[in-house]
Amino acid sequence: MTEKPLPKPLPATQETIKEAARLLAEGKLAAFPTETVYGLGADARSDEAVAAIFAAKQRPSFNPLIAHFAEVEAAQREVLFDHRAEKLAEAFWPGPLTLVLPRRADCGISLLCSAGLASQAVRLPSHPVARALLKETGFPLAAPSANASGRLSPTQAEHVSESLGASVAMILDGGPCQVGLESTVVELLEEEAHLLRPGAVTLADLERVIGPMKARIKGPVTAPGMLESHYAPKAPLRLNATELAPGEALLAFGPDPLPGARVAENLSESGDLLEAAAHLFAALHRLDRETERGIAVMPIPAEGLGLAINDRLARAAAPRPSPEGEADPE
Ligand code: TXA
Ligand code: MG
Repeated sequence: MTEKPLPKPLPATQETIKEAARLLAEGKLAAFPTETVYGLGADARSDEAVAAIFAAKQRPSFNPLIAHFAEVEAAQREVLFDHRAEKLAEAFWPGPLTLVLPRRADCGISLLCSAGLASQAVRLPSHPVARALLKETGFPLAAPSANASGRLSPTQAEHVSESLGASVAMILDGGPCQVGLESTVVELLEEEAHLLRPGAVTLADLERVIGPMKARIKGPVTAPGMLESHYAPKAPLRLNATELAPGEALLAFGPDPLPGARVAENLSESGDLLEAAAHLFAALHRLDRETERGIAVMPIPAEGLGLAINDRLARAAAPRPSPEGEADPE
């Protein structure tokens, strides 16, 4: 295997921002500065591009990702803003606040970005380079912090090249991030608003705008993006199936799907894990609509992105755990 050269951070200029936008439009990954931390960006509409983020971060599970926008109106086309969301956006956007809102029925953002949930996190960053890049692409960018899973969030362009290296096509250098802490995450899915992750916009700031909130933070560093929120299909899931029971739907993987299924989806006929990750949630949703008898899932290799796929399948197959005690794997 030939080693790909590590991309050196390039100073953000009109030209390099244009080049980054071009690479992103091709489905590649580009890292860019925001006011909080550097983000690892991909076209949020593309299943494959979003799957490449998880592969690059070597995340053992599909934690949902934030979609970044240049304009409020563009975000409002994808998710439903209630009165509170409108007030918070007006008070703190552009800036270090992320809102978790219901996906619209015709939401164009990849389901993998939502990790299969009915909600999508959205944010308008204020950093001029992030804004210029988002304007140049014209589409939203899915962007987690640009660090390998389990490593610290990057606040300088050099951190990105050290942590992610060859998996990112380009790194835009906009100097050190002003905030240096990931954005505040607020969930607005119920009557009660929840603070999922503390950040530069404080609980007091938020409560001044929308009134009393519940905090879900358990310890000083817990950031519970995954609490209560894994995707569980209605139909029971049977993992590592080597044959089909009568009436079961099939979630296949690879060139030899189990015979006899009335309804089937193949995550990847060629056995490609990136493709499989990209199709996972959409395939589960489709099968779940078509069957009440259960879904048999063929074995997926437990390597690379296969670990994340198996993690999500195991969560989807298990009885829903209690929402307590699970931390963000970041
Ligand atoms: O400041 C930031 O937010 C940076 C910059 C790049 O924008 N991004 C960032 O992304 O920190 P990430 O993926 O490292 O953290 C996103 C957090 C995670 O805790 C995730 O679980 C939570 O937001 N999150 C995303 N979508 C969610 C959803 N639909 N429901 C609940 N939590 C969600
Ligand atoms: Mg992170």
